[in-house]
Amino acid sequence: MKEKLDGIRLAALGMIEEARDTSRLNDIRVKYLGKSGEISAIMRDMANVPKEDRPAMGKLVNEMRGEVENALLLKTKTLSRLEEERKLKAEEIDVTLPSGGKKLGTLHPLTLIKKELIEIFAGMGFSVDEGPEIESDLFNFQLLNIPKDHPSRDMQDTFYVNDNIVLRTQTSAMQARIMTTTKPPIRVVVPGKVYRSDDDASHSPIFNQFEGLAIDKHITMGDLQGCLQTFAQKIFSKDTKVRLRPSYFPFTEPSVEVDVTCSMCHGKGCRVCKGTGWVEILGAGIVNPAVLDMCGIDSSIYSGFAFGFGIDRIAMIKYGIPNIKLLYENDVRFLKQFN
Ligand code: DAH
Repeated sequence: MKEKLDGIRLAALGMIEEARDTSRLNDIRVKYLGKSGEISAIMRDMANVPKEDRPAMGKLVNEMRGEVENALLLKTKTLSRLEEERKLKAEEIDVTLPSGGKKLGTLHPLTLIKKELIEIFAGMGFSVDEGPEIESDLFNFQLLNIPKDHPSRDMQDTFYVNDNIVLRTQTSAMQARIMTTTKPPIRVVVPGKVYRSDDDASHSPIFNQFEGLAIDKHITMGDLQGCLQTFAQKIFSKDTKVRLRPSYFPFTEPSVEVDVTCSMCHGKGCRVCKGTGWVEILGAGIVNPAVLDMCGIDSSIYSGFAFGFGIDRIAMIKYGIPNIKLLYENDVRFLKQFN
């Protein structure tokens, strides 16, 4: 019995000595001290020891048990401390190391164009204004010489909120707002979102327009042409030419549609300009005297020019973007290209 006890004691202490982690120590504890462990088994066996030997044997077993328990406790302490140290070391962060560098996003192409446009027109003395996207019929249509039930309303597929409120179809609404509240001279551009019930490769139900308005004494079509020429050369290229064609808008008289030489082929004719060498970019004209008078500006003293175009269209022409939807899907593979 005594030899058996010594054997178990040596084996247990040896194993504890060799253990390299706390989970191994736990296994050893179960093997010897657990309910069906070897030392527990010997305790149960005491019943078979002759009565007179029991006190001495019991003492031996208890001593051995105490020794094994102590060894386990000590080794657990040591290994736990080591494990804790190892864990801290692994999680260590050196805050003095240089960072990997942050990846910066890029501005949206529409934002890039808008900023560029504002800079160009600010250089010609225009200020910048913005207005509401939910607009009254009065400013979006009536004060621009488009009365209710007038056929020219069909030029724009309007989202009506109710009979008198619309999602603005054109930034021209801001012309009326500005003219009714500001005394000439006026030189202002208005970038902003507009809405129309229209949807194909070159039309989106939401898009961005850029409006221009200049009112003063003696403003002529020549001023309009010069202003647009400068704008076209700055936004596209120095050799860009501008051409004015007669057109119709209720709020300008006369009205023009404005083409620029194709920036892809420089006027030679290509797929983008459908072989003509010209691309239409905007509508413009001399502010209709009826509009001036309706908005409270004396048309016998003042005249003005106005223009409006799609920022989206400018971006599409300038960057060769084939489908307007690309500007609104926000696919990062597309957006990343405008670094
Ligand atoms: N508002 C017009 C449109 O959305 C564009 C336009 C044409 C604006 C002529 C103007 C203008 O200011 O004079 O189709």
